[in-house]
Amino acid sequence: MNVSVKNNDFDFSKYTLDTKIGAGKFGEVWVCRNNIFRRKEAIKRIRLDTSGNLQTQARLNLLEPRVLEYLKKSDYIVKVFDAGLNKELNEIFITMEYLPKGSVNNLLAKHGYLDIQTVLNIMKSLLKGLEYAHNLKILHLDIKPSNILIVNKNKYKLSDFGLFSIKRENGSADVDIIYDLHIPPEIFKARKASEQTDIYLAGITFYRLVNGDIVLRKQFDEWIKKGKYKYAVLNSKYPSRNIYRYHVPSCVRKIIKKAINVDPKKRYKDAAQMRRDIEKIKLDYDWRKSRDDDRLIVWNAHSDNKNNLKLICEKKINLLEQFWTIKLLKVNEKSGKENMVHEFSKDYVKERVLVKRLCEIFNNYF
Ligand SMILES: Nc1ncnc2c1ncn2[C@@H]1O[C@H](COP(=O)(O)OP(=O)(O)O)[C@@H](O)[C@H]1O
Ligand SMILES: [Mg+2]
Repeated sequence: MNVSVKNNDFDFSKYTLDTKIGAGKFGEVWVCRNNIFRRKEAIKRIRLDTSGNLQTQARLNLLEPRVLEYLKKSDYIVKVFDAGLNKELNEIFITMEYLPKGSVNNLLAKHGYLDIQTVLNIMKSLLKGLEYAHNLKILHLDIKPSNILIVNKNKYKLSDFGLFSIKRENGSADVDIIYDLHIPPEIFKARKASEQTDIYLAGITFYRLVNGDIVLRKQFDEWIKKGKYKYAVLNSKYPSRNIYRYHVPSCVRKIIKKAINVDPKKRYKDAAQMRRDIEKIKLDYDWRKSRDDDRLIVWNAHSDNKNNLKLICEKKINLLEQFWTIKLLKVNEKSGKENMVHEFSKDYVKERVLVKRLCEIFNNYF
C-alpha cells in the first residue's frame, strides 16, 4: 500500500483542542472540536522525528488512517474522518469519531476484572470487527483492551490499526512489533502472522478481561524473572490454562483454550467461528461480587427468568483450624425473602478446597 503525502497538508486550524484522552508510544489522542462541522472528534497526533526522513515517516504513519478508511463500512471498527501531515508542526493528524466512554481498558482499570456477560458482549463485537478486516486480508495484530473502544454496554469498536499487516497470497503476513505481554508462539518462532495470530490475541484479551490484568501480569513477571518467557509461551504454560478466577465458567475457559492453542492450525478457523461459540453461551445469572474480605465473601446473582441467588462464604476459626462455610440462597426479588438452596459445607470446607467448590457452584449456576 502506497500513500502519497504531497498534497496531504493537514489544516489544523479547523480544530480546537480540548483535552488529552490517551498517550502511547507513538503520540497522543485528544478530544477536539471540529469548528466546521461543530462536533467533537477524537484526534490522534503523531509527532515526527525531525532528524529522520519526514516523507518516509509520514507515509508509514498515514497507512493507519488509510486502512481505517478502507474498513469504514464495518460498524465494529472506529470511523476515521480525515488525516494528513502538518509540515509546520511536524505532526501527523488523524481525526476519528469520538467515543466518550473510552476504551475497555478504562473499564478494566476501574473494576479489576469484568463480569462475564460484559466480556461476552465485548468479544462478540471484537470478533465481528476482526471478521470484517480479515475478509479484506487485513490483520490487526495489536488486539488488547486499550484498542477496543466502548460504544455502549452491548457494542464495542476495534481501533488502533497502527500495527496492522496485510496477508499475502502465500497466507502469511510479516510482523514488525508486537505487544510484549502477549507475543503469540508463531511470532516467537518465525515472525509470521495469519488470521490465527489475531485469534490468539483475541483469546488472550478474553483471558485478561475475565481475570483482570493482575492475573496475567503476575505470570508474565514470573516467567520474565526466570528468563523463560519464550519457553512458557511455546509450551502452553503462559498464560496458565488452569489459573482463572473461580467464577469463570468452564464453557468460557474452553473457548479461550482453543483460541490460544500453541498450534495455529488447532485454533478457531476464523473469527466468525469463535464468535458463534461465544454466542452459544447463554448466561442465566449475572454474578457480581458484593463483598470480599478476610472472613466473608458474598456474591449476588441476578436472573431475568429464574430466582436471584446469593452465595455466602464465611470463614470460621476455632482453636485448631480455619474452615469455610458455603451457603447458596434463593432470593425473592419482591419480598427480599431468602431461602436456602444448598448448604455445601455441613462438612466444613478447608481453605484449599474452597476454590474448587466455588468453581463447581459457578459451573452449575451460570
Ligand atoms: N476515537 C476515540 N474515542 C475515544 N477515545 C479514544 C479514541 N481513540 C483513542 N482513544 C483513547 O486513546 C487511547 C490511545 O489510542 P490508540 O489509537 O490506541 O493509540 P496508540 O497507538 O497510542 O495506542 C485509547 O486506548 C483510548 O483510550
Ligand atoms: Mg493503542
